[in-house]
Amino acid sequence: MTGIDEAGWLPPDVDRAIPSVARIYDYLLGGAHNLAADRAVADRLSAIQPQVAQVARRNRAFLRRAVRFMLDAGVRQFLDLGSGIPTVGNVHEVAQDVDESARVVYVDYEPVAVTHSRLLLAGNPHADVVQADVTLPGVVLGSEPVRALLDLTQPVGLLAVAVGHYLSPDADVPAVFATYRDSLAPGSHLALTHLTNDFAVLSDPRVAETMRSTQDHIYPRTRDEVLALFDGFTLVEPGLTTSANWRPDRLSPVVDPHDDGLYAGVGVRS
Ligand SMILES: C[S@@+](CC[C@H](N)C(=O)[O-])C[C@H]1O[C@@H](n2cnc3c(N)ncnc32)[C@H](O)[C@@H]1O
Repeated sequence: MTGIDEAGWLPPDVDRAIPSVARIYDYLLGGAHNLAADRAVADRLSAIQPQVAQVARRNRAFLRRAVRFMLDAGVRQFLDLGSGIPTVGNVHEVAQDVDESARVVYVDYEPVAVTHSRLLLAGNPHADVVQADVTLPGVVLGSEPVRALLDLTQPVGLLAVAVGHYLSPDADVPAVFATYRDSLAPGSHLALTHLTNDFAVLSDPRVAETMRSTQDHIYPRTRDEVLALFDGFTLVEPGLTTSANWRPDRLSPVVDPHDDGLYAGVGVRS
């Protein structure tokens, strides 16, 4: 097929043969910024576990609820780690709907995600994107958009939604989170979701094996390992739970934790 692969939206530094989770996730959410190689992986994942697309949608719904929760708590600036390709209900849209001066910095290392974020944010003085690896907090926090838009003496909503499980243990992930935490003022919030094998739904070894054919390998973590990422934050009710069960709203599906696949929680820095 020609078509969207040839539509001219692809940055030149993208290797079409190497799938990326940013584009796989975009496809699972019904987006159009993905390539044949990404769609093939997504289809393989869905064949192994037909609930994969629902996991992605529930994750995205959690993200929106968590941002609204932080807005209700008075947070007006957000640092979104592993923000992905813009799709419906982006953080700046949710936040600026409540307060048009709310500030958002997106961070991703994937060129399609960064290019499309940049296009979407053109003309928005309160939101920007940084192309960086989130395991390098010094690079992220020292970047021009963070310095220009975020006041780190005031509470920040730190989002690490569906990104932690792409970070290898070699990167010392708890230390990475601790560095972000230590740069944030009291009252800052951390919202995250994280893949786990504690539940059945995504624990099939073929899921991780399939992701090894992409540039984003996965490292599911146990409940205790995910809790460790909240070190220095006090979890708000209902604590660390599953994505659909974190403060569900009237649109949230009822999902048994064993069918969810993602731990989810929000903590406040004291
Ligand atoms: C599954 S998507 C999640 C997108 C968004 N946070 C959400 O929950 O809707 C994961 C994103 O994390 C990004 N990512 C993975 N590892 C990363 C890293 N080390 N540095 C920056 N971005 C990363 C991927 O490129 C992808 O866009």
